[in-house]
Amino acid sequence: MRTIAAVLSLAASALAYSVSQPNSNQGWTTTGPNIVSWSRVDTDAKNFTLVLVNQDRSVMPQNDQVLSAFVDGTTGQLTASPPSGGWPTGKGFQVNLVEDPNHLNTILAQSNQFTITQGTSSVSSVSGVSTPASVASTPVVSAANPTGTNNAAGTDGSLNPSQSLTDTSPSPSNAAGRLAIGSQGILAMGLAALGALLA
Ligand SMILES: *[C@@H]1O[C@H](CO)[C@@H](O)[C@H](O)[C@H]1NC(C)=O
Repeated sequence: MRTIAAVLSLAASALAYSVSQPNSNQGWTTTGPNIVSWSRVDTDAKNFTLVLVNQDRSVMPQNDQVLSAFVDGTTGQLTASPPSGGWPTGKGFQVNLVEDPNHLNTILAQSNQFTITQGTSSVSSVSGVSTPASVASTPVVSAANPTGTNNAAGTDGSLNPSQSLTDTSPSPSNAAGRLAIGSQGILAMGLAALGALLA
């Protein structure tokens, strides 16, 4: 009887840290930010080590991934950085607050189960890249071009016949042809090298 009471009181003091997030409603994503929130009492250890766990080896082949060692417990919240192989995805994840990296089984607190889903931040970075190109193609209104028309042929608005229409001399087009073949050749060499690397 006394043994059971001692075990229960030990368990109660060891579980004073309490994790409120992540949880079953508020999971994580592969793009983050992935927040851990906890509460503690004065008698709790000053620091803990944050560990990502999952009982399903098909979701997380290596269990007990240390996300952060010796976290200052008084801060109440942190943004978790991904494990070295990046965030796994799936369900049944938990974060454990453990004593230190050498005592992963001395658990101070454990979150509810939560999911890690694929994030979508790559969409915004693609649209960000396209912005400068559309700005560059917008006609510029200036003193030299008061109507703001696209005026590629020249400042007087007419084509230059000696350059654009009658210049059929072979040397410039041959040079362009060599240039095109040259860049294709470089591309082919690059692809061959890539193929060799992947083989
Ligand atoms: C973590 O806290 C323990 C006591 O709870 C202390 O002995 C240890 O030095 C602390 N470690 C760090 C890195 O703050």
